[in-house]
Amino acid sequence: MQIDIISLFPEYFAPLDVSLLGRARAQGLATIDVHDLRTWTSDPRRTVDGVPFGGGPGMVLRPEPWGAALDALLARATGDPPCLLVPTPSGQPFTQSLARDLATEPWLVFACGRYEGIDARVVEDAATLMPVTEVSVGDYVLAGGEVATLVMLEAITRLLPGVVGNPASIAEDSFSVGGGGALVEGPVYTRPAVWRGRAVPEVLRSGDHAAIARWKREQAERRTAERRPDLLTGKLPPTFPGVAQ
Ligand code: ADE
Repeated sequence: MQIDIISLFPEYFAPLDVSLLGRARAQGLATIDVHDLRTWTSDPRRTVDGVPFGGGPGMVLRPEPWGAALDALLARATGDPPCLLVPTPSGQPFTQSLARDLATEPWLVFACGRYEGIDARVVEDAATLMPVTEVSVGDYVLAGGEVATLVMLEAITRLLPGVVGNPASIAEDSFSVGGGGALVEGPVYTRPAVWRGRAVPEVLRSGDHAAIARWKREQAERRTAERRPDLLTGKLPPTFPGVAQ
């Protein structure tokens, strides 16, 4: 998979060299190129932002550097254009299902906004040239798209064949079909069998694989009902802790 990231802060992406993703890159399972948006400025001060039309606080990222950056990446296309992902709190929610879809794409481009966001004409224009999805990683506001991009990249690249050593662990993930539809995973345990007087549930040590599978499923259902009832009903109950309705 080819991944290009356009950002005003390329140094944010140092974690891409670490752990699972770092290994995936080293093995050539994913090629990740980070580009500085200022490469595509044309004035001596390398200006990327401007005051918003219509007033309001903060600055908006000007369209010209984005247009030039996306044109430069598109010029490298030998076949289909890339999928463009634009992290923004106003985007569609990023889910495991979207991660699975994106993991099948050969080429992703992430456009990381900052400040009040990117001039809206950039997405409009890009959408005439390639598929574009504006994506939110949660109902909170980050300082920019970089951390959201890291979140999405980690979720997507661990699904690429060969990245996670044991593919069964992906099938059992929270939100995975193998994990029982949109359920969160239940508790997990390792040695010692008793720790501070707390024993690992007997069934997990029974060797009865069918009973273990049943137990895991029940635990996942119980935990999902307790913590994420919205996954079961599609709706949060009024008393769901900490979530304004
Ligand atoms: N940029 C700022 N906040 C964001 C969010 N919640 N999701 C994606 N991109 C963002």
